[in-house]
Amino acid sequence: MSKRKKVTVVGAGNVGATCAQVLATRDYADVVLVDIKEGLPQGKALDINQMGAVLGYEPYVVGSNGYEESSGSTVVVITAGLPRSPGMSRDDLVSTNEKIVKDVTEKVIAQSPDAILIVVSNPLDAMCHVAKNVSGWPKERVFGMAGILDTARFSTFISWETGSSVKDVQAMVLGGHGDQMVPVVSATTVGGIPLRKLVAEDRIQAMVERTAKGGGELVNLLGTSAWYAPGAAAAQMVDSIVLDEKRVLPCTAYLEGEYGIEGLYMGVPVKLGASGIEQIVELDLSDDEKAALEKSSAAVREVVGVLTT
Ligand code: LAC
Repeated sequence: MSKRKKVTVVGAGNVGATCAQVLATRDYADVVLVDIKEGLPQGKALDINQMGAVLGYEPYVVGSNGYEESSGSTVVVITAGLPRSPGMSRDDLVSTNEKIVKDVTEKVIAQSPDAILIVVSNPLDAMCHVAKNVSGWPKERVFGMAGILDTARFSTFISWETGSSVKDVQAMVLGGHGDQMVPVVSATTVGGIPLRKLVAEDRIQAMVERTAKGGGELVNLLGTSAWYAPGAAAAQMVDSIVLDEKRVLPCTAYLEGEYGIEGLYMGVPVKLGASGIEQIVELDLSDDEKAALEKSSAAVREVVGVLTT
């Protein structure tokens, strides 16, 4: 392997492979794709390398069934676990994925003791607790991807509704990665203009609702969970860490009093840089938004209560 930084993605399913593919095209780090299924990570890595010859990027992507190749990674993205099937909530996956995330975390930390862990496996907020408890690492280095994806869904709907470029939509979705998530309308603007000045309240509420149920809409269409936006969202977090961009992005962070929530992983805006979470940003929320966040935190606590790790 080269002397470039290394990013490992565990799980070569749809989300993991998409994340690895997006990272490869970014061209700043080599990528290790790990999966227990023989041939799968090797095959996807080979395919992504060959795509580089077409698109013109250089990183070396390696696929492996073990963790040795991952040693010394700067960031490890954990996507391993079962995805949802139609009719399943993310929470239905808790006991199966808890075992998988525990096992993966143990193996990852043995090879990369200084890495930053990004958890993507569902139920996301609870799986962050598993990774933190198993690793014993500080909260700054263990967090999850959900808010960028949920915000991307909200931004897409706003862009369509207003006929504006999605690049000019500034939105924020907080809370747990479940149907109780909280699209923060008061912090959402299009070209700097508050959303409420542009779109009628009933249309906004329809977009809020569609966002909150956005993962389920895709599961119903695809028969499994989404992967393009989730994979790209995880890669965006890796960008901000490896390139020390200090972007403020909604991520699943361990809260110790912020937003009035204690000892729980939840989606909030954070500043992401080379040290991981460098700051938790506290937005001024309306009373309704505060109440919704409280409701979302109760839903997350219920799932976390089922964990045995
Ligand atoms: C979703 C899954 C990945 O929201 O949680 O699509």
